[in-house]
Amino acid sequence: MRIVFATGNEHKMKEIRAILGDLDIEVISMKEAGADVDVEENGETFEENALIKARAVSKLLPDDIVLADDSGLVIDALNGEPGVHSARFMGHDTSYDIKNKAILDKLSGVEEEKRSARFVCAIAMVLTTKCGRTEERVTKGAFEGCIGYEIKGENGFGYDPIFYVPDVEKYSAELSFEEKNERSHRGEALRKMKEILREEIL
Ligand code: IMP
Repeated sequence: MRIVFATGNEHKMKEIRAILGDLDIEVISMKEAGADVDVEENGETFEENALIKARAVSKLLPDDIVLADDSGLVIDALNGEPGVHSARFMGHDTSYDIKNKAILDKLSGVEEEKRSARFVCAIAMVLTTKCGRTEERVTKGAFEGCIGYEIKGENGFGYDPIFYVPDVEKYSAELSFEEKNERSHRGEALRKMKEILREEIL
């Protein structure tokens, strides 16, 4: 058995390999497994979308443990947006420089206490047992911070350059790979999934 992660995002694969690397099992992306599906993520929650993706890929790879994630940025002052629409916000092809500037504009004049935000991640696992039963699990993680006042940092991806992390007084895009993995939403959800895999599956 292998763990196949349903993403084409290399940044995510690097984070995933770093966290799941010490499990005694091969971890590969769906592309490396030869499966490529474009699933419509039409769920209303991160959990639903992660399950939709994992179920679709599991149908193609019934012999593997399939993991999928769905994540996004939840901004309280924007009633939770972009939320599950984070990747689609302003269009898939719009650069994050433009998206990040637009969010800073939307929040101009919003006072500091009301700029709270969090990255949220749900990880779903789907596998088919030898007797054809489907096992499913979902874990969740959150990374608390706030929307800053500028675009800062070169690391990470997406909304990292506008996400300020108060306890380290840095933008998320200024964190090293290890610093981000230690506290990130995906790190938390993946560590919880790793425990489930260790205790119940492997
Ligand atoms: P997904 O790939 O469908 O889960 O979409 C997640 C989207 O949320 C990404 O395209 C990013 O815009 C945003 N996002 C999720 N996690 C992060 C992160 O760790 N840093 C910055 N942006 C993120």
